[in-house]
Amino acid sequence: MGLDTPGLRPDAALRAALASDLDAMDAVIRERMASEHAPRIPEVTAHLVGAGGKRLRPLLTLAAARLCGYQGRHHVDLAATVEFIHTATLLHDDVVDESAQRRGRPTANLLWDNTSSVLVGDYLFARAFQLMVGTGSLTVLGILSDAAAKIAEGEVLQLTAARNLATTEDIYLKVVRGKTATLFAAACEAGGVIAGASEDQVEGLRVYGDALGIAFQMVDDYLDYGGAGDGIGKNLGDDFRERKMTLPVIAAVAAADSAERAFWERTIASGRQEEGDLQEAMALMARHGALEATRAAALDWAGRARAALAPLPEHPLRAHLDDLAEYVVARVV
Ligand code: IPE
Ligand code: IPE
Ligand code: MG
Ligand code: MG
Repeated sequence: MGLDTPGLRPDAALRAALASDLDAMDAVIRERMASEHAPRIPEVTAHLVGAGGKRLRPLLTLAAARLCGYQGRHHVDLAATVEFIHTATLLHDDVVDESAQRRGRPTANLLWDNTSSVLVGDYLFARAFQLMVGTGSLTVLGILSDAAAKIAEGEVLQLTAARNLATTEDIYLKVVRGKTATLFAAACEAGGVIAGASEDQVEGLRVYGDALGIAFQMVDDYLDYGGAGDGIGKNLGDDFRERKMTLPVIAAVAAADSAERAFWERTIASGRQEEGDLQEAMALMARHGALEATRAAALDWAGRARAALAPLPEHPLRAHLDDLAEYVVARVV
């Protein structure tokens, strides 16, 4: 820990600083993704886990615990718990979004089927809960089980907000906070709690994770229209096809004249999409600065994340977390 890591991207710097904890977490994941009775489980899980992923959420747990002086082993199991919950939600998410690509590979729902993705996702959720019970902390159990409920709530709210042009920024924020920021916040908070950090430090970590997660999802929503095939490992345009009311669309609809409004009515509300519509949506977004507005909102949340670190101890890991907030938004440019 505390390595001097000049020139590394902030996520890579965190990975370098926490390398031995991360290796230990990977070992726990490999061990716990096994199943004695159903070979389909390790097959599907290995496909997704083997593709890597950025491991951002478990890094947050490990960093939060170490930053608060933790010397035990439970943070490794908690990090694995968080990554299992994340992996389970990705399996489910790609079914509900009918996505074809994840982490640069065909999705499990495409390679196997929806049923396998849903059931293996359920299994991973259950494995996550077994792991965190092992830590013996009821507080941590409360944090992560609340998070699991809120993630599902966010996904369901998104379902009912999609295709509805009246969806406001406020509702969008609720969706994003639920489906994404909740797990970032819980990952940070659980790390602080297991380390026995003070109440204001745990709260600082929670607020940091929440704001970071919101910024992160806003950038993800930006990239779905503005990513220009830069290797994000997912198909562009999925959100448009799914008729999701993400911030770029909300901003473009708010600025639409009547012809543009008719375009959004046809493509998002009615779903009669034609060849070239995605390009037209992107052109309208450019005309009204909708992607710029999304980027500005993400920057604002990244700033809030950094400010929330104030009660945390001076430590190289704190500097890495600070840099990470800046970096998640820099993905946009
Ligand atoms: C994907 O999260 C789901 C979102 C909240 C956008 P990540 O982009 O962190 O996924 P991996 O784990 O790195 O693949
Ligand atoms: C991901 O939401 C949030 C969860 C996995 C719960 P998205 O559907 O926006 O994320 P991607 O773009 O598929 O990764
Ligand atoms: Mg999705
Ligand atoms: Mg989704």
